[in-house]
Amino acid sequence: MTRVRAPSTPLRPAAGQSPAPAPTADRTALEAELRDLRRQSRAHDPRGQLTYKDMMRASQEKAKIDQRIAKLEAQLASLAPAPAPVSGPAPRRPVDEMDRSRPIRTERDMDIVCPVLGAMVASGKLQMDADGNVKLSQLRDILVHDHNLSPIMARATAVTGFAGNGPLDVLGNLLGNEMNVLELRSGMIKHPGDSAILTGGKFDQGRFDAFVAHAAPGGPGEGGRMTIESFARAVQAQADRDQDGATRVAGSGGALGWILPGGLDTVVRGQPSAVVEYSALLNVYGQTDPATGERYITTDDLLTLYRDKQLPPSARMQSRPMTGVADFATTMAKMGYETAFGTSSGTALEGAERALGAEPKGTDGMGGAGKASCPFMHGGAQKAAPMSPAENHLLHAATS
Ligand code: HEM
Repeated sequence: MTRVRAPSTPLRPAAGQSPAPAPTADRTALEAELRDLRRQSRAHDPRGQLTYKDMMRASQEKAKIDQRIAKLEAQLASLAPAPAPVSGPAPRRPVDEMDRSRPIRTERDMDIVCPVLGAMVASGKLQMDADGNVKLSQLRDILVHDHNLSPIMARATAVTGFAGNGPLDVLGNLLGNEMNVLELRSGMIKHPGDSAILTGGKFDQGRFDAFVAHAAPGGPGEGGRMTIESFARAVQAQADRDQDGATRVAGSGGALGWILPGGLDTVVRGQPSAVVEYSALLNVYGQTDPATGERYITTDDLLTLYRDKQLPPSARMQSRPMTGVADFATTMAKMGYETAFGTSSGTALEGAERALGAEPKGTDGMGGAGKASCPFMHGGAQKAAPMSPAENHLLHAATS
């Protein structure tokens, strides 16, 4: 019996011929596979996982699937365009075919959310490429040579940039020694409890006014003075704002905002992070009152930084002693202590603890900021460390 063989499709077009359009069957099969992969990619979104282990597994799986998606997309793009329908209305695109796995990059149109990095970029000191990437080695050099930070302090600051973007960007950031300053808003350092002056995308005058409302009166031409105490009051007010779901600033949680429920993220991550940022601000750009020795930054300098994206003059940084880890730790500890005990509720708590003969909290330097904001640290050794998100939630809910 003679078999009729189907004509085989040539792999390469003969010389001088244009490539033959891909058979519709191939295209349809590729598109179906692509749809399925996109569904799988969405199902492996690490943000939907409960434990860290599941999150890591999901993100590895997602990365593999996304690689296959990219290959298939390239394969489809290289095919000749699909033949247009001869007549009738254009077929409706099924909802499932929409590519929801790609991030919408509206963040790129917004101001850089860190006022300091924003001003460094605006001044041209820190060079940003067209995609928003900056080199962390350049940031370190600016901090050492222009900002007069000790090399250790500058390195410690710059390396936080590896974690500045999303969890899936860490490896790329490490390999490239870079971070993307246009994507900090959706990154892991973004946290609730901040001033939120730039969180919405542009300078927010109302939030700036609320921030500097905590300032002490300033000298001539200074506006007001933000001191350790002023910043501590701002930290407390901002934490109160974001702990309450009704007043929390939208989008304040960044990439990790989903891990801890409700206002807990503000207490555990937000307050200590704000203390770190304001301590750096005060140490690096502030001035010292010659009469009292108190460190402050003027509200006029803050306005110039947040709104006009301008750093204080380099000469100011270079004329003060070099800022090192010890200065920074001291300011953080004082601010953490003030945050916990400088407020009326904190003072009452401290009074009660002293009356009962308990050790006052926050007196051990660096631990102050943590003790001020975390119930586990606050309770010290009397409480077992939480081992799961659920235990953590119960512990914090019971003590806050
Ligand atoms: C690798 C370096 C840095 C990264 C990745 C980074 C990242 C960020 C991010 C994500 C925010 C937004 C926080 C939020 O709104 O939740 C922020 C705010 C801020 N950062 Fe940076 N930053 C860096 C360096 C610095 C340096 C060197 C300083 C000071 C010398 C600084 C001071 C601040 C201040 C003051 C804020 C604003 C806090 C507020 O308005 O409440 N940052 N930074």
